[in-house]
Amino acid sequence: MAQYEFVTDESKPSRSGAIKLHDAPAFDAMRHVGRISADILDALVPFIVPGVTTEEIDALVLRMTLEAGATPATLNYRGYTHSCCTSINHVICHGIPGSKALKDGDIVNVDVTSIVDGWHGDTNRTYLVGDVPIKARRLVEVTYEALMLGIEQAKPGNHMGDIGFAIQTYAEKHRYGVVRDFCGHGIGRLFHDAPEVLHFGRPGTGPEIKPGMFFTIEPMVNIGRPDVKVLDDGWTAVARDRSLSAQFEHTIGITETGCEIFTKSPKGLDRPF
Ligand code: MF3
Ligand code: CO
Ligand code: CO
Repeated sequence: MAQYEFVTDESKPSRSGAIKLHDAPAFDAMRHVGRISADILDALVPFIVPGVTTEEIDALVLRMTLEAGATPATLNYRGYTHSCCTSINHVICHGIPGSKALKDGDIVNVDVTSIVDGWHGDTNRTYLVGDVPIKARRLVEVTYEALMLGIEQAKPGNHMGDIGFAIQTYAEKHRYGVVRDFCGHGIGRLFHDAPEVLHFGRPGTGPEIKPGMFFTIEPMVNIGRPDVKVLDDGWTAVARDRSLSAQFEHTIGITETGCEIFTKSPKGLDRPF
């Protein structure tokens, strides 16, 4: 049985493994930091064009994060030295920004996490670079819809398995592979906290969803097999069969009646397609 704890002192985040239940001031803080991360993804749209390098994207993310009064959570996180992850084509997640330029027809995921007063806002989108073939566009659309179907299940009384089931069922109906090796996560004053948010599962299984929970949902979907290989840099996760992979991520908070998406695009650019 999952354990829950009402957080009484947010200034001392515990790694108890219990699922935290947060109060209204915590929702305010998450709304603020979530908005900053979403604003950054919005502002990137005009820069995601052929010829731009992923380190240029990283520099933009760093500058915009600092200008917003935040810090990038990934910078110096477990030895990671960049302000975002940039995952192109068959890279599933944790792509490291570098000198590689985007090409016409690529898909690229940018994953941004900002911190304000210790609170984390974690979100990513997969962008289309120039003219993208229909096969890749379809993957990106289905992955986005899978995230939103998962979010629809995120409400009190449901179980975490309902989220995973909705995502898996939709993706597999399209004959895509749902990545099992990475999951969403509890978030708040910790970047990665309990519970693990699986993107596959069975209805009615897993911890019950309760008001006050904060977590991310971030399905990774491959055109081919779901199997992952991590490259020698220790970070870059690629589809083992080198098939195209897409991802979308939101940070949400469970309310009495459903959920609030903290990282919703203020400009309505959640679907970059
Ligand atoms: N933002 C990623 C997530 O969704 C985590 C990236 S950790 C890094 O959980 F070190 F790879 F940047
Ligand atoms: Co995340
Ligand atoms: Co993320």
